[in-house]
Amino acid sequence: MKANDEIVQKMRAEAEAAMKNAYCLYSNFRVGAAVLVDDKIFAGCNVENASYGLTICAERNAIFQAVAKGAISKERKLKAVVVVTPAEKLTPPCGACRQVIYEFCEQADADIFIFGANKTGSFKLSALLPEAFGPKDLGK
Ligand code: THU
Repeated sequence: MKANDEIVQKMRAEAEAAMKNAYCLYSNFRVGAAVLVDDKIFAGCNVENASYGLTICAERNAIFQAVAKGAISKERKLKAVVVVTPAEKLTPPCGACRQVIYEFCEQADADIFIFGANKTGSFKLSALLPEAFGPKDLGK
């Protein structure tokens, strides 16, 4: 998959829409994310909390929306993730989100696209989380 593919641009638009709803009272750092499951897109934003550690990132929010809608079950079908921020620098997913992406990733090899203010980057999950621990390690 490529950053300028139609589906990736559609995911980007949905992530940007979600980013507008980011609840980021403490960091003031807006993030939007969208995930592709089969041919369906689910989006989320970061949601912070006065008890900082309870914050959820945009990526996990988007994935959990897909789970809640019944799009992901035991079969791991997540194909691609788009992350959008207004930042100049590209911001790849945090470690916790990489692990959650891995849980639902179709071939442990999802495409991850990052869109910043003026930059675009893409990674394979396997490059961001090599030698990952996951369902297979528990016989699933
Ligand atoms: N954040 C995300 O939403 N995704 C990431 O991958 C990194 C960080 C959020 C969490 C917090 O609301 C803010 O960005 C600053 O860490």
